[in-house]
Amino acid sequence: MKIFLMGFMGAGKSSLGIRLAKVLDYDFIDLDELIEEIEGQSIQEIFEDKGERYFRKLETNTLKSLRDRQNVVVSLGGGTPCQNKIMEWIKKNGISIYIQTSQSLLVQRLYSAKAKRPLIKALNKKELIQYVKAKMNQRRSFYNQAVITVRNDRSLKLMVVKMKKRLTPFLPAS
Ligand code: S3P
Repeated sequence: MKIFLMGFMGAGKSSLGIRLAKVLDYDFIDLDELIEEIEGQSIQEIFEDKGERYFRKLETNTLKSLRDRQNVVVSLGGGTPCQNKIMEWIKKNGISIYIQTSQSLLVQRLYSAKAKRPLIKALNKKELIQYVKAKMNQRRSFYNQAVITVRNDRSLKLMVVKMKKRLTPFLPAS
């Protein structure tokens, strides 16, 4: 079984993924980190040197390379499920969880940690609010295709409990 965590930048996909993997006794993969390992560059450097188009291709290929992995929680990048046909692949290959987060909480989190995020690092607060709003409008229809949606309520522990409960019908009986 593969579990894919999706949601906007700053939704907490990685922190939640690590915890969820632990309670399920699954492996954990952070897609951005895997891309950085494969490419030998940070996401920021990849964007700077090779551009977003290159990154998106790499992102798709890296995700698809996980096809034969089992018992793994994969934290996707914010834009991963929004690429052409990737949602179809995700649906065929595992269970997806959308971490739904309010725009105000996203802005709050992203503003203090924007330096290492190439898409937003040059934005001021007002521009960031506009960016999150516009991108969310583009991406919502992809995120909403997830099998499970969990609202972000600040307590990671509680969210993991909720996720595990909602996953139960899909997990093999142990
Ligand atoms: C992106 C999100 C980032 C990373 C890249 C592009 C996006 O991942 O993949 O900077 O398009 O939203 P996180 O959501 O893990 O920050």
